[in-house]
Amino acid sequence: MTQRIAVIPGDGIGPEVARIGVRILESLSLPLQFDWFDFGADRYLRDRTTLPPGFMDTLRRDYAAVYFGAVGDPRIPGNEHAKGILLAMRFELDLYINLRPCILIDDRLSPLKGKGREQLKFVIFRENTEGLYTGTGGVFKKGTPDELAQEVEINTRKGVERILEAAFAHAEKRGLRRVCMADKANVLLHGHGLWRRALAEVSSRHPGIQAKAMYVDALAMDLIRKPEAYEVIVTNNLFGDILTDLGAALTGGLGLAASGNIHPGRVSLFEPVHGSAPDIAGQGKANPLAMALSGALMLEHLGHARQAQLLTRAVEAQVSEGARTPDLVPMLGGPASSTEQVGNELLARVQGAAQALS
Ligand code: NAD
Ligand code: IPM
Ligand code: MN
Repeated sequence: MTQRIAVIPGDGIGPEVARIGVRILESLSLPLQFDWFDFGADRYLRDRTTLPPGFMDTLRRDYAAVYFGAVGDPRIPGNEHAKGILLAMRFELDLYINLRPCILIDDRLSPLKGKGREQLKFVIFRENTEGLYTGTGGVFKKGTPDELAQEVEINTRKGVERILEAAFAHAEKRGLRRVCMADKANVLLHGHGLWRRALAEVSSRHPGIQAKAMYVDALAMDLIRKPEAYEVIVTNNLFGDILTDLGAALTGGLGLAASGNIHPGRVSLFEPVHGSAPDIAGQGKANPLAMALSGALMLEHLGHARQAQLLTRAVEAQVSEGARTPDLVPMLGGPASSTEQVGNELLARVQGAAQALS
């Protein structure tokens, strides 16, 4: 049965990397159908559409996944369209797991002395539907000297428990032994007290996994000092946003960082961790490999584990021995190649491997 994928390239480098990602996925000869949608800054500025009415229902009814580029445009400094597009899908499709692997592909990409592939292989489970991201709050007496602005952090027992459960289940399934929860329970007594209580309960259901909680500031430091101590990290929405950019920096940068926004068993969204990168958009400099690796995460979600692995291996080979975009040149050496050149080489690798397989 054909699985339909909604492709939303978005803004800036989003379309540059999405084009390549889709070409590569199409080359695998799987029963996938890609439908393109033009939601993003241009559309929003033209007719104020973020996502049209009924689009979430269409996704729920007709689509297996969303393959997403990036949103963000300097002409929309308040980022309203990102809220109406990306955050809206995360919330309304209830994509509560933001899965962000931070796995080093090649020792030369490590910025840390003495830390290589053996030491840098953790995965972050970021809560993706609540925390400080819900827009709850408001401004009072705006523009006056007495102005008051409030952003409310939402932590529900259900929301916290299910992301913790997902992290422990992942560890169990992969034969991993350690889960670390990052919070700030020494200051945010109410919300993060709830996280601590939920951790005690969820971890008691997984006696084979070593669970610990850490303050997020200490964890940020420790990820630089001894990343090998971490296998699975689970945290709230905002801390997860920050820690996953840190994780990307430890493993080759945003050009290689992939993510899945997942509700198990339901339509889910796959996107690179990076944004629309206005500073390099339109110059052929964007690294398409984060988008390709997000495609591999999507294939896994869709039940195509073999092809997911094939694509991941091809990206690894591309990084180690193929052409590279400028972002990787400081670590791997020159010369720099374009987005298109890297994409074409990766496509050839994937086709070669797929032929060998069949
Ligand atoms: P960014 O991720 O777009 O860029 C940060 C830096 O990393 C830039 O120097 C950029 O050139 C570089 N970079 C990012 N992706 C790259 C790639 N694939 N190859 C090579 N270099 C790459 O973050 P930003 O500059 O803080 O944000 C730009 C816009 O994107 C903002 O509007 C922001 O809100 C938005 N954004 C969107 C998403 C998303 O759609 N998921 C994620 C992050 C930021
Ligand atoms: C990310 C991005 C988004 C976030 C923005 C664009 C809303 O930074 O996916 O990491 O903060 O979640
Ligand atoms: Mn981010």
